[in-house]
Amino acid sequence: MTNHSKNKKLLLNIGFAVIGIAIVAFLLNAPDETTSFLPKDEIHIAFHAIESKKEAEKSCIDCHSETGVAPLPEKHPPKYRCLFCHKR
Ligand code: HEC
Ligand code: HEC
Repeated sequence: MTNHSKNKKLLLNIGFAVIGIAIVAFLLNAPDETTSFLPKDEIHIAFHAIESKKEAEKSCIDCHSETGVAPLPEKHPPKYRCLFCHKR
C-alpha cells in the first residue's frame, strides 16, 4: 500500500468516528430527559399496562386537549407520540 492511500484510509476512519460520536450525542440529547414521565397515578396507571405505545396514546388527548380536563401547556412541542417523550 502506498503512503497516500494509507492516509486516505485513516481520514475515512476518523470521519466515521466523528459521525458516530455525533449520532450518539444527538440521541443522548433528544428527547430531553427533564420531560415529565407519564404519572403513575389512578388516572394514568391503566396506560402503563398497555404494552403498545401507539394503543396507549390513543386516549391521551381525551383529557389533554384544549377542551379536556388537563390541557397541554401553550408552548407544548409537537405532540403526535406522547410516550416517546413522556416515558413510562
Ligand atoms: C382521564 C383523563 C386523562 C387521560 C386519559 C390522560 N391524562 Fe394525563 N393527566 C390528567 C390529569 C387530570 C393530569 C394532572 C394531574 C395528574 O398529574 O394526574 C394529568 C397529568 C399528566 C402529565 C403531567 C405529569 C407531571 O409530572 O406534571 C403528563 C405527562 C400526562 N398527564 C401524560 C398523559 C399521557 C401520555 C396520556 C396517555 C397515555 C394521558 N396523560 C392520559 C388526565 C388524563
Ligand atoms: C416531542 C416531545 C413531546 C411529545 C411528543 C409530547 N410531549 Fe408533552 N411535554 C413535552 C415537554 C418538553 C413538556 C414541557 C413543556 C413546558 O415546560 O412548557 C411537556 C409538557 C406536557 C404536559 C404538562 C405537564 C408537564 O409535565 O409540564 C402534559 C400534560 C403533557 N406534556 C402531555 C402530553 C401528551 C398527552 C402528549 C401526546 C398527545 C404529549 N405530551 C406529547 C414533550 C413532549
